[in-house]
Amino acid sequence: MKAIAINGSPRKGWNTDLILQEALKGAADAGAEVEMIHLYDLNFTGCRSCFACKRKGAEPAKCFWKDDLSPVLDKILSADAVFFGTPIYFGEITSQMHALIERLSFILMTYDDYSKKLFHGKVNCGCFYTMNVPQEGYEKMYAARMRQSFAVLNKLNGEVVDYASCDTWQFTDYSKFQTAMFNEEHKRKMREEQFPKDLAAAYQIGQKLCGKE
Ligand SMILES: Cc1cc2nc3c(=O)[nH]c(=O)nc-3n(C[C@H](O)[C@H](O)[C@H](O)COP(=O)(O)O)c2cc1C
Repeated sequence: MKAIAINGSPRKGWNTDLILQEALKGAADAGAEVEMIHLYDLNFTGCRSCFACKRKGAEPAKCFWKDDLSPVLDKILSADAVFFGTPIYFGEITSQMHALIERLSFILMTYDDYSKKLFHGKVNCGCFYTMNVPQEGYEKMYAARMRQSFAVLNKLNGEVVDYASCDTWQFTDYSKFQTAMFNEEHKRKMREEQFPKDLAAAYQIGQKLCGKE
């Protein structure tokens, strides 16, 4: 069994990365071989409209553009579980994650018939979002939008689970930054009390999506 995590945050060792590491730990404890991929380490763009994937006789669900993302797309489609992690930037997934989703979406659709399935395997997916706003803000403003951003994952024929880690700790030392909008005490409390619960939830999701309840 293979599980991969795809970190759509530029910050290694921060909220999104830590959540994904826990999901991978859960997957590993469920018996999976695991791998972390940091999108911001890779050199790639969104879809280049080369249309190689739309040529007659082309291998289905294959991106022929050669850059650092092409092998990642292959890995997603051959994994048993994939954990996507992204901070919310201006109400959206990050630009690198968006570029990945664009590439994945295009190889999974055909101009013959939008409803035709090109992928017949099964990949379970966990989508982890981290953000500044509290849980109510996520439910109200972002939850539906995030599901829409990752809608292509429904074409992977597996389970799709969303998890939001809200009100995250953004700076090591708030006093060094202009952050009048945030209450450091409250942020610290969230970091100490809520974030460990988010990590535990990520671990459980990692296990569950790799077949261990
Ligand atoms: C450019 C930028 C835009 C952001 N936009 C939002 C936003 O629209 N809503 C929100 O709740 N948090 C926003 N944030 C906060 C991050 O989503 C949040 O701190 C997240 O947990 C950071 O993830 P990381 O620690 O893995 O880098 C933004 C942060 C940055 C750097």
